[in-house]
Amino acid sequence: MQEIKSVIDKNSKIAVLCGGMSSEAEVSMRSGKGCYDALQRLGYKNAEMVVVDKDIALKLKEGKYDYAFNALHGKYGEDGCIQGILEILKIPYTGCGVMASSICMNKEFTKRILSTNHDIIMAKSAFVKKGDDLFEKTKDLTYPLFVKPVSEGSSFGMTKVDKKEDLKSAYETALKYNDDVLIEEFIDGFFVTVGVLECEGHPFATEILEIRPKTEWYDFEAKYTSGMSEFICPARLSDEVTQKVKDAAVKAFETAGCRSVSRIDFMMKDDIPYLLEINTSPGMTTVSDLPAQAAAMGINYDNLVQLILNSAGLNK
Ligand SMILES: Nc1ncnc2c1ncn2[C@@H]1O[C@H](COP(=O)(O)OP(=O)(O)O)[C@@H](O)[C@H]1O
Ligand SMILES: [Mg+2]
Repeated sequence: MQEIKSVIDKNSKIAVLCGGMSSEAEVSMRSGKGCYDALQRLGYKNAEMVVVDKDIALKLKEGKYDYAFNALHGKYGEDGCIQGILEILKIPYTGCGVMASSICMNKEFTKRILSTNHDIIMAKSAFVKKGDDLFEKTKDLTYPLFVKPVSEGSSFGMTKVDKKEDLKSAYETALKYNDDVLIEEFIDGFFVTVGVLECEGHPFATEILEIRPKTEWYDFEAKYTSGMSEFICPARLSDEVTQKVKDAAVKAFETAGCRSVSRIDFMMKDDIPYLLEINTSPGMTTVSDLPAQAAAMGINYDNLVQLILNSAGLNK
């Protein structure tokens, strides 16, 4: 096991931000509790769980916190909003800064930024706004397709489309979540996800987690029903392909301007990693992906929390 040394004064007052106003508020409470418990074990006796609501700016100001540990997910917590409040209040925080958070919240804009780096491979796609000519926009794509709202998580509003006749209804399903829809060619492969952590300013990839859902793709049911997915860590990839995925993850982290921590999802086909998205505030429950990826490389949960806390304020 690796021991991560603290660079943060143990008497610091730390706000563990959790809950929030997104569809992932409940998961965030569990992430927050996990991080808070770890901070207590690490000796940060002045850590507190701060449940985020519309009065958060006032709570943070009055609480006179030295650091914020971001355990929020989704809207307002992962999209640059809370990061903006923390910038204004001059409270150093963990995770990505305002810009990377807001870019990565949107799957289309993530792809636009990452496409500037030719080493990063992504599925061919079309960006279709509400009111656009759906069939004109997707005419160069090869079926099956995968339709998704640009800024949702948990596989919400997503549909695999095998034939043209079914595209319209899948598009309408995605439109219920966002006005902008991303339509990708379906990558008929398997799903892997890899963490990227920053230590003393240098990003490095964790072990790769391979997830084999019992469903056709990693949908909501497979994500949140115990026993519906098989988890293999490290992923069953050759050393060469493992390195390729890790390199792609670190390159994506740097290209999108991420700092501190992120978790990057890929579909693997013919040993090629097709990048799907960057999660800038990944789940930190004790059974989440990132803690499993870190554990597989000898960084246990408490040391992972220490490592992330050490990077607070790097995202300037
Ligand atoms: N282009 C694609 N081809 C095949 N499967 C995909 C594709 N895009 C997404 N998926 C499947 O949908 C799941 C969720 O997609 P993702 O883009 O990671 O969104 P979310 O934010 O919901 O995690 C992935 O884990 C994968 O199983
Ligand atoms: Mg994902």
